[in-house]
Amino acid sequence: MQVAKTLNELKFMRNKLEGRVGFVPTMGALHNGHISLIRKSVEENPETIVSIFVNPSQFSLNEDFNKYPENLEKDLEKCRKAGAALVFTPDRKEIYKSEKPCITFNINSDISSILCGKNRLGHFEGVVQIVVILFNLVNPDVAYFGEKDFQQLRVIRKMVENLHFQIEIRSVPTVRETNGLAMSSRNIYLSDKQKELASQVYKTMETIQRRAEDARLERRAIPVEFAENEAKKRLVDQVPDIEIEYIEIRNNHDLSKSRFLSNNSKVFISVKIDGTRLIDNLFLGKKGG
Ligand code: PAJ
Repeated sequence: MQVAKTLNELKFMRNKLEGRVGFVPTMGALHNGHISLIRKSVEENPETIVSIFVNPSQFSLNEDFNKYPENLEKDLEKCRKAGAALVFTPDRKEIYKSEKPCITFNINSDISSILCGKNRLGHFEGVVQIVVILFNLVNPDVAYFGEKDFQQLRVIRKMVENLHFQIEIRSVPTVRETNGLAMSSRNIYLSDKQKELASQVYKTMETIQRRAEDARLERRAIPVEFAENEAKKRLVDQVPDIEIEYIEIRNNHDLSKSRFLSNNSKVFISVKIDGTRLIDNLFLGKKGG
């Protein structure tokens, strides 16, 4: 496995790769969620490139950019084991030549005013900025993103469509701990006890999923607002100090809101536990449907 630290090294090494190239962009502190993306790419393409770059432009001032977990040596070992051909670990100064770029991206309010877009102003603009840069540098045929960050996945698909990138976007299901907690680099901030409490996020989504299933069998319509409120109440009861940013049920395809649970519904949750932000989502429609 090769490691490119500079843009020149990347260019040189990338040009030598032959055949279809799969790309997995990450911010490092790799866990099994990231590894499942890398393995999928390795399975589907002769060459896989992983990038590790903690992108400052997607964090706002009060967020955890300065303490975001980093462990390059371990990450490289994990990439090697998963079968990556090349890992790109650029320096911030090389990616952002000037502190304030004069070309930036704007995302319309359909996406940027809801869920994480509403709660993290400028976040998706920063994600688009870095993914455009990485797509240009890496020049992949296909890129892999996790369903755990479902809104991000949707933003990236729109970006590829709107900017006519000739890159296929593939999504990978969320990888969880045995207690249901979605794997995340930020889980490192949590104590064992907090991780157990955090698994209530998944368990709460499961209770909504069961309710949706019962309603389907009994042919009852359940108002979205009712299901959201019930979930909020359950989560606050189970995890007293939890800070709920949002619990929202939206359409699985276009993230629109409807009045009743349907076969296309998905629940989205963002919470903070002791200052650590955790997000997750679960499809509420028929399994496999
Ligand atoms: P990061 O949080 O490191 O995640 C990198 C990729 O791994 C994303 O596509 C994310 O959805 C996926 N991922 C994270 N946790 C996962 C899990 N438990 N199961 C499956 N996939 C998971 O997302 C980013 O970095 C950044 O925004 C990035 C796209 C790299 C741009 O900076």
